[in-house]
Amino acid sequence: MQIDLLIHSAAQLVTCAAQEGTAKRGAMMRDVGLIQDGGVAVQDGVIIAAGASAQLCAEYTAARTIDAAGKVVCPGFVDPHTHVVYAGNRIDEFEMRISGASYMEIMEAGGGIVSTMEAVRTASLGQIVEQTRARLDNMLRHGTTTAEVKTGYGLDTASELKLLAAVETLDASHPIDLIPTFMGAHALPPEYAGCTDDYVTLVVEEMLPQAVIWYQQSRFAERGVPFFVDVFCEQNAFDVAQSRRVLEAGKALGLQVKAHVDEFTPLGGLRMAVELGAVSVDHLDVTPPDEFALIAASDTIGVIIPTVNFNLGSAHFAPGRAMLDAGIALALTTDINPGSAPCPSMPMAMAIACRYQHLLPSEALTASTINAACAVGMGARIGSIEVGKPADILILNTSDYRYLAYQFGGNLVESVYKRGEMVVG
Ligand code: NIG
Ligand code: FE
Repeated sequence: MQIDLLIHSAAQLVTCAAQEGTAKRGAMMRDVGLIQDGGVAVQDGVIIAAGASAQLCAEYTAARTIDAAGKVVCPGFVDPHTHVVYAGNRIDEFEMRISGASYMEIMEAGGGIVSTMEAVRTASLGQIVEQTRARLDNMLRHGTTTAEVKTGYGLDTASELKLLAAVETLDASHPIDLIPTFMGAHALPPEYAGCTDDYVTLVVEEMLPQAVIWYQQSRFAERGVPFFVDVFCEQNAFDVAQSRRVLEAGKALGLQVKAHVDEFTPLGGLRMAVELGAVSVDHLDVTPPDEFALIAASDTIGVIIPTVNFNLGSAHFAPGRAMLDAGIALALTTDINPGSAPCPSMPMAMAIACRYQHLLPSEALTASTINAACAVGMGARIGSIEVGKPADILILNTSDYRYLAYQFGGNLVESVYKRGEMVVG
């Protein structure tokens, strides 16, 4: 049979396939679906077969044939938690932290998220799009083929809508597929100082309804891509009651739920988010261990973010190993943002997770592919090399997938295919 694309003879085909697109937990996270001398057949951008090379070569002839001898073929990475849409940078704060100021001290002094808010409010839509496009290009070169993207640097209705517009423009014009999240409750804008409840009212009564109108008319709704609501449940941001107001309002409007919880302070947001049926709870750096069972017993994915700990020079990391052993379905992310993690690379997140959170390379890869897809509600559609899924595929310049985490500071991604089209290589 004649097809569009045949990749064959891979030293390792790593499918990351999962039962019906459900997240892997426990020992299952070590199963990356490894096939030696493997191949993938693609027609119309969709995977039509994956398995032993010899069989595929006997069955198909292709318009384009790629010999992947000595290479690894794996799914494109899904980055399930990003703040990649912004303007400016926070290099000055990087230097302040080097000199001893903490992330929270900088935030309390009016820097941090609010300083990026100022840059976003003054930037045009075009400037935000072009600055973000360069970051997406970098992520793509490091193998990310789908990324969730949060608003949350506008913090007023018009600026939050400007960020949503940027997300849609970029999704339409960049190979990386984006999944939008509204995060108006990311920080308190200065004009609401001392009036957090009033700001929450603005988010709930004005921003969220307008965000929903935006979504309903967007390409995301048209394509059945979910829309999420997220909140920063943290001291000096939003407490549990305020976070609950935001998430419940979003949920009532049809959005799916995510929450930043337990990054610096264990406020109890995790329990609230899991009760609301959150698709993911993210950070979990200081989650009390007696809450691990709560997540493990739910469908909620635990997204751990070691790039933040690394970037903040912290010796403390979420105990990924203990969480995994407790049965939590874990995902990894870069959290790419200008403050806590200016990192475009999922393999870098894997490298840190293996060293400081004691994940095996196999577990880190599962956490960056199929489980990350589940963390954005897309496990049945992306995140693995399986028949019927889009051909979002990487060819790595190594013959052992474990190099993804073993090596750091380099880039093993040789080529990237998005829906069967080569977009890097
Ligand atoms: O996930 N924790 C809150 N939000 C981001 C940081 C954003 C920023 O510093 O600009 C995070 O770490
Ligand atoms: Fe975040």
